[in-house]
Amino acid sequence: MQVYTASVIGGGMGGRLSMNALVVSPRFRLIAMADLRADVRKHLYEMNPNIKLYASHKDLFADCPTDVVCVSTFPPSHREVTLDALKLNLAGILCEKPLGDTAAAGRAILSAVKMRGLPMAVPHGLLKLKHSEEIIARVRGGELGELELVEIECNKWDIINAGIHWLNFFVNLVPDDPAAWVMSLSESSTRTYRDGMQVETTAVTYVQTVGGVRLVMHTGDAVQIRRANKDFIFRLVGTRGVIEFYAFEGVYLLTNQQYPNGQVFTPEPYSASPHQRHLEAMIDQAESGKLDYSIPESSLAALELVEAAYISSAHRCKVTLPLEQFVPPAEPQWLPGQPYSGSGGGRDGRKL
Ligand SMILES: NC(=O)c1ccc[n+]([C@@H]2O[C@H](COP(=O)([O-])OP(=O)(O)OC[C@H]3O[C@@H](n4cnc5c(N)ncnc54)[C@H](O)[C@@H]3O)[C@@H](O)[C@H]2O)c1
Repeated sequence: MQVYTASVIGGGMGGRLSMNALVVSPRFRLIAMADLRADVRKHLYEMNPNIKLYASHKDLFADCPTDVVCVSTFPPSHREVTLDALKLNLAGILCEKPLGDTAAAGRAILSAVKMRGLPMAVPHGLLKLKHSEEIIARVRGGELGELELVEIECNKWDIINAGIHWLNFFVNLVPDDPAAWVMSLSESSTRTYRDGMQVETTAVTYVQTVGGVRLVMHTGDAVQIRRANKDFIFRLVGTRGVIEFYAFEGVYLLTNQQYPNGQVFTPEPYSASPHQRHLEAMIDQAESGKLDYSIPESSLAALELVEAAYISSAHRCKVTLPLEQFVPPAEPQWLPGQPYSGSGGGRDGRKL
């Protein structure tokens, strides 16, 4: 079995998930990491005294090129670091979600990786955990009838940093039914920033697919969750059943014709972490030559929904997809909720 050398750029929470996965997997040998911060490098050294540490990705790539690179910096630098990594003689690349700080950056990254013909991992945890894999299979297999509504409550996190995982999960529930439009309102009263991005204090995001499936997602610093001790709830509502679950927690409740009183499922989790499973699936692709970009593509589709939500809020408009073709319209001089003067044009809403 070939063992692939690996490096990780960014030694924070995301980078450590890759670091731990590379250390325990027999298929990789972690040999180097880079982080801008000396205190983070010191901590990385204490955890892994045998790896080389660098203050920048450029120094690492010049001095210690590896077969696999994990890009785990903040979203605004994913494009630069990934494009620099692609100059190396790689077997595969991992780029953290969100692929970039904008959909354009995500698109540039994905198309550059495809041009190089390299396998790519984008480690959305819900796509590699046992319970969420089962949920996707049940929904796609029709156990809820036709999926009509996905409702998500997400406390303490925002649309771009955690919401992208949830939007990606939604995209994977309805893989043949792309989003048609997005409307969203973000308020910024606390001026919250997270992972190098300005984010909402509270937001509500609404997505409708071409086929009419709805997603409603409530995100922000203080979202009331209607279950004790939970920070996330997902409700998947179909014509003949409902699934409730709690993001990364390995349990779900299924209510349908077969389980009319609701059945709790707690499937045996995989022994390997989602990052390890993503990385090993990537290297399987490198070895077989059968490249599968469905996860990176679904991550890009989710990033488009993220950006569409923020554009919708900033411009008070409905954002139609694909995003590349969307130009925000001028704001109409019309305030819903105000009395109509009887003149000044408009559309007579009684003509139904
Ligand atoms: N897939 C997941 O489950 C998961 C979980 C956590 C974070 N993430 C992702 O990981 C990425 C990083 O987030 P985080 O939570 O680790 O943030 P973090 O603040 O914990 O760590 C980021 C680290 O990257 C370093 N850094 C930033 N820019 C750099 C650069 N250009 N070169 C080298 N080092 C750089 C910072 O100094 C910091 O130590 C984000 O894209 C985030 O969304 C993914």
